[in-house]
Amino acid sequence: MKVLIATEKPFAAAAVKAMEEVLTAGGIEVAKLEKYTEKKQLLEAVADADGIIIRSDIVDAEVLDAAKNLKLVVRAGAGYDNIDLAAATAHNVVAMNTPGQNANAVAELVFGMLLFQCRNQFSGAAGTELMGKTLGLHAFGNVARNVARVAKGFGMEVYAYDPFLTKEQIESAGVKAVASIPELYKTCQYVSLHCPATKETIGSINYDLLKTMPKNACLINTARKEVIDEAGVLKLMEEREDFKYIADVKPAAADDFVAKFGTRVFFTPKKSGAQTAEANANAGIAAAKQSVGFLKEGIDKFRVN
Ligand code: 3PG
Repeated sequence: MKVLIATEKPFAAAAVKAMEEVLTAGGIEVAKLEKYTEKKQLLEAVADADGIIIRSDIVDAEVLDAAKNLKLVVRAGAGYDNIDLAAATAHNVVAMNTPGQNANAVAELVFGMLLFQCRNQFSGAAGTELMGKTLGLHAFGNVARNVARVAKGFGMEVYAYDPFLTKEQIESAGVKAVASIPELYKTCQYVSLHCPATKETIGSINYDLLKTMPKNACLINTARKEVIDEAGVLKLMEEREDFKYIADVKPAAADDFVAKFGTRVFFTPKKSGAQTAEANANAGIAAAKQSVGFLKEGIDKFRVN
């Protein structure tokens, strides 16, 4: 049995070493394809793999066709919109994620970006504080729960909405539940996105929703760029000089945003939310353990297809 670690954006070296140890101890041969630049390299590398461990790497029908022995794809991370699940199922390939493993890292980045923006990107001009401000969490999974924990330390007033959770489930985490998405945006000066990219959410963060946000609004996106209706945000930011937009998932129209709005926007040059030594180790080792568990014992916990 062979598992390929295919990461266009590699894990930290220590995480890779730990993953190799887990896989080898489980009787699995390890292959690595890191920092690859062309899909062709991935197509070649998967040819004889029984499993693949990926990050945001795209696994589509073409990759699955090229991987004749493949039985398992593990997305070392939370969001699995980069795997074509229907194609995986059609190829008899099990897909899994490693939920929660990089949640704290992403949550900490939310605050790094927020502080940077609130202090005018450290230009020295007087900025604003987070204490006492309203923060809305759009979806309340592992990342949002960590954001809520830190936000309370900053003295923020935290609200959340999640279509899959009851008011009681949300409020048991010590945040206020709101009844709808529009209510969340109307209530909160800061909104942090933590929803996956699905057919319901793609393009759903739009002009009509964002225009209702209170004065000096700021949208923080560490989730997926696809959930944003970029034309709507561009239009709104032209109309509202008080509106700011910061993202770890750079919009397709990033150059337009920067040219038009300068320091009212900030986008990390490379997606960095999960890029810590700790998160790399957590997610990578979890993915390695899940690979051994499935390929050797058929355990399919965290299967998503
Ligand atoms: C996730 O879904 O877990 C995050 O978006 C991390 O993505 P990355 O592995 O590409 O950093």
